[in-house]
Amino acid sequence: MRVPLLRPSLLTERLSFARRSLPLTIRKGISQSRKQYRALSPFVELTSVRHPEIKRGSYSRLTDKDLSVFESILTANRCISDPTDVEPYNVDWMKSYRGSSSLVLLPKTTDEVSQIVKYCNERCLAIVPQGGNTGLVGGSVPVFDEIIISTRLMNEIISIDDVSGILVCQAGCILEQLDRYIEGHHLTMPLDLGAKGSCHIGGNIATNAGGIRYLRYGSLHGSVLGLEVVLANGKILDCLSSLRKDNTGYDLKQLFIGSEGTLGFITKVAIACPQRPSSVNVALVGCQSFADVLTIFKMTKKKLAEILSAFEFMDTETMTSVFVNLGLTCPITDSPFYVLMETSGSNGNHDEEKLNDLIEELMTTGLVQDGTIAADLTQIKYLWSLRERVAESMVKDGTYCYKYDLSLDLSVFYDLVLEVRKRVSHIPHAFVVGYGHVGDSNLHLNVSSPEFDPHILSLIEPFVFDYVASVSGSVSAEHGIGIHKPMYLRHSKSESAVSLMKLMKQTLDPHAILNPYKIFTS
Ligand code: FAD
Ligand code: MLT
Ligand code: ZN
Repeated sequence: MRVPLLRPSLLTERLSFARRSLPLTIRKGISQSRKQYRALSPFVELTSVRHPEIKRGSYSRLTDKDLSVFESILTANRCISDPTDVEPYNVDWMKSYRGSSSLVLLPKTTDEVSQIVKYCNERCLAIVPQGGNTGLVGGSVPVFDEIIISTRLMNEIISIDDVSGILVCQAGCILEQLDRYIEGHHLTMPLDLGAKGSCHIGGNIATNAGGIRYLRYGSLHGSVLGLEVVLANGKILDCLSSLRKDNTGYDLKQLFIGSEGTLGFITKVAIACPQRPSSVNVALVGCQSFADVLTIFKMTKKKLAEILSAFEFMDTETMTSVFVNLGLTCPITDSPFYVLMETSGSNGNHDEEKLNDLIEELMTTGLVQDGTIAADLTQIKYLWSLRERVAESMVKDGTYCYKYDLSLDLSVFYDLVLEVRKRVSHIPHAFVVGYGHVGDSNLHLNVSSPEFDPHILSLIEPFVFDYVASVSGSVSAEHGIGIHKPMYLRHSKSESAVSLMKLMKQTLDPHAILNPYKIFTS
C-alpha cells in the first residue's frame, strides 16, 4: 500500500482545510486578550521593580571619567550611551526582563575586551556579556545598571579546515551566517535553533544551547574543541585548541560552556563541524495521544536508525498558537499531537525509501492518522517553521510568556503539561502549550497570558520546579538559569555541587563583576 503522502498539488487544498478546522473558541480567546494588551502595555517592566528581592550589589556607578576611558579603548562611536540606542540592549527577546544600563560597548578584538574587562574589574563596575540577545532566561540583559559588552562587531571567521571540518571564528558570528559560509565547504554547524538568524556562536556556547540537531550531533560540550576567554581580571585564557583529542590535564574550556557569562567573556571559538548531509527529508504526522508519540519514537529509531536527525513534538494547542498568532496553516488534519521527524543522510533514494516505509507502517498500524512528507526544500522549510516559530508565536503582540525548558523522563514527560493546564483552567486567558525535543527528553512548557500576572505565576511556580525535582528531572534542559531560576538551582544540583560552583565563581571572578545576579541567588 502506498501512503497517502502530501504531493505538492495537494498542499493548497490541505492547507485550507486545516485553516477552516481551527478550534474557534481558542482563536477568539487569544485575539481578544491581545487587543486589550496592545492598548494597555507598550512597555516592559524593569526587572528591579518586578523583583524587589534582588538588591543591587556594591558596585561602582559609571562616571564620565569611566566613559572617556572606554572611548579611548574603543573610540566614541563604539560606546553607545544615547538612552534610545541603549534601550534594545536592555530588554530581552521575550520582553520579560528589562535592565537600566546606560552604556553598551562594542569591542572588535580580544585585546579590546581584555582592556575593558580589566578596567571594570579594577573599578568594580559590573558587566553583562551579550551576544544576539535571544536568550530565554533573562541572562543577556542587565538587572540594574551593569555595562553591556556586546559581541556584535566580533564577527570575523578566522579559519575553516575542509579536511578536519574545524571552524575557528570570533564569538560574535551569527549562527546562520556561519552555517551558510561553511556550506561552501560541504560542512554544517553541529547545532541549529529557531534563533539562528540572530544568536551568536559565543552566546550559543555560553548557554550550551541544545536545539533541533542535538539528537544527531550531541552537546556543544562535545563539538567545541577550543575557546579563547577573557577572564574577570582581563587576562586572556588561551584554550583555543583545534585538537579533537587532548587529555593534558583539566579541560578548562568546558567550564565556560553553559556558564552564561558568569565566569569569563568568550572571544574566540574552535568548533568541529560535521559533513553537510546531501539528503534531507522531513515528515509531519498526526496522532491521538502522547503515548502514541512515544511508540512512534521507538519505531522511528528502529526503522530510521542512523539517518534520524530530529524528532520533535507539538500538542494541538501549540499548533493552534502557530496558526492563530503567525497565520501559518497545517498541511495535515487536526490531531491532538504532531510529530515532526527529519532524516539526514547521503543517499537520497535510500533515505526516502526508509522514511516512506516508516510512514506506511505507522499508518497501517493506525498509530498515525494523517501525515505528509515534504516534497522539496520549500516544504521542508515550511514544516520546520511550524515547529521553530512556536517561541515567536507565544510572545506575539506583546503577550507575556511563562517559559519552561525541562528535562524529564519520557515516562512522565507530558503529565506536567496536563497538570499545569488543570491548575490554570479557571483563568480565561491563560493558554498552556507543550512541545519540544522528545528525542532529547526535553519538554518545553509555555503558558501565555495577555500581560504578566503574579497570580498566574504563583499557580505555575514553584509547582513546576517542585514537580521536576520530584521526578529527578532538570529545571533547565537547554536555556540555562539566568535570572529566572537561581532560586531553583538546587532543585537539580546537589548542595556539594552548588558549593563547588560558587567556589569556582569566587576564584575566577572575586569581585563578581561578570553577569551578577545570574545563576546564583547571591
Ligand atoms: P545572548 O542571549 O546574548 O546571551 C545568552 C547568555 O550568554 C547570557 O547569559 C550572556 O551573558 C551570555 N553570553 C553571550 N555571549 C557571551 C560571550 N561571548 N561570552 C560569555 N558569555 C556570553 N536555546 C536552545 O538551547 N535550544 C533551542 O532550540 C532554542 N531555540 C530558540 C528559539 C528562539 C526563537 C529563541 C529566541 C531562542 C532560542 N533558544 C534556544 C535560546 C538560546 O539560548 C539562544 O537563542 C542562544 O543560544 C543564545 O545566543 P545569543 O547570542 O542570543 O546569546
Ligand atoms: C525551541 O525548542 O523552540 C526553543 O528552545 C525555544 C522555546 O523553548 O520556545
Ligand atoms: Zn528547545
